[in-house]
Amino acid sequence: MKIIFSDDQDEVKVPKEAVALLKQGLQAVARLHKLSAKTEVSVSLVNDEVIHVLNKDYRGIDRPTDVLSFALDEAEEPQEIGGPETHLLGDIIISAETAVRQGREYGHGFNRELVYLGVHSLLHLLGYDHMNKEDKAVMRQEEEKALQIIHLSQADLDRSTGKEDPDHFALAVVDADPEQSVKRGKQKVTSAEKIKPVKNRKKSDINDMEGEKTMGRKNGKATDKTIKKLFKKALKTRENAYVPFSKFKVGAAVLTKSGDIFTGCNVENSSFGLTVCAERVAMFNAAAAGVRPGEITMLLVAADTEDVTSPCGACRQVMAEFEIPVIVMANVRGDMKTVSLEELLPFSFKAADFT
Ligand code: THU
Repeated sequence: MKIIFSDDQDEVKVPKEAVALLKQGLQAVARLHKLSAKTEVSVSLVNDEVIHVLNKDYRGIDRPTDVLSFALDEAEEPQEIGGPETHLLGDIIISAETAVRQGREYGHGFNRELVYLGVHSLLHLLGYDHMNKEDKAVMRQEEEKALQIIHLSQADLDRSTGKEDPDHFALAVVDADPEQSVKRGKQKVTSAEKIKPVKNRKKSDINDMEGEKTMGRKNGKATDKTIKKLFKKALKTRENAYVPFSKFKVGAAVLTKSGDIFTGCNVENSSFGLTVCAERVAMFNAAAAGVRPGEITMLLVAADTEDVTSPCGACRQVMAEFEIPVIVMANVRGDMKTVSLEELLPFSFKAADFT
């Protein structure tokens, strides 16, 4: 497989070994999937700002993410780009800054995080997904197979903790952090344009790691931790639900940019239509404390449902008003599914529509 690699960011000084390992990881996937030498994939490292722009433009999620996979729809233009025999898979865009952060948070370092993100993203380009448990398990297995080849599998990492089989320690690359020059205030969006050569990127072809972390990616801590906190608080407030009619208790929590958490539970009324859902109570609690649209980064809702609890239409409209980019739907057993506002309420009515 041909890998077209470019480092389009200045924030992180990426070690040569990291790039070499990334390429090895991708080639391992290629070998396992018997991809031909004519297969091409482009990999670009960008900064958080650029991936934020792409995440917002293509997925409607207004924040940076770790990796985005842009699948090429070959049927539309194979000849134009690489001749009829070239098999163009698409683009992998990785935020080096987020990889540094996550590598540190997960405790396995930048190199392994970079390779993991690349392998994960390439598998997306090959059609793997993690929308449901079964697909996720299959995708995870494929990741492990590829990472095993280059001795960076989860099993290798577990061994590297020294708990068992210490002989393998050297095989797992647990590196030092690369240098990260902080350039706040002088950020430039140079590569957003540069990395758009693929003409037929489609929203539907884009994947990232969203959901993975909430669904319990091994070692996933940062986002998991925040979500767990929201979950705990939502469950606690759920106990206060006033539900004499439905007996169906719901809890919700919202997280603001400044790190504050506001919670809510459903409050019913004998004039049934006056009942207010837990999500709206949480959002209105935040509003009453002065929180305004654009300041809530995440909402979590949980109830005792078989599958995860899905917010009602009215609450979705209020979420749109508050521009909440990420919604975590959970149940009391801790099953979770993360979706974007755009997914929950496409074509929503916004203030901009009448102003
Ligand atoms: N409910 C919520 O609190 N949130 C939802 O997303 C769905 C429904 C409440 C309203 C009512 O008290 C009960 O669940 C049954 O509809």
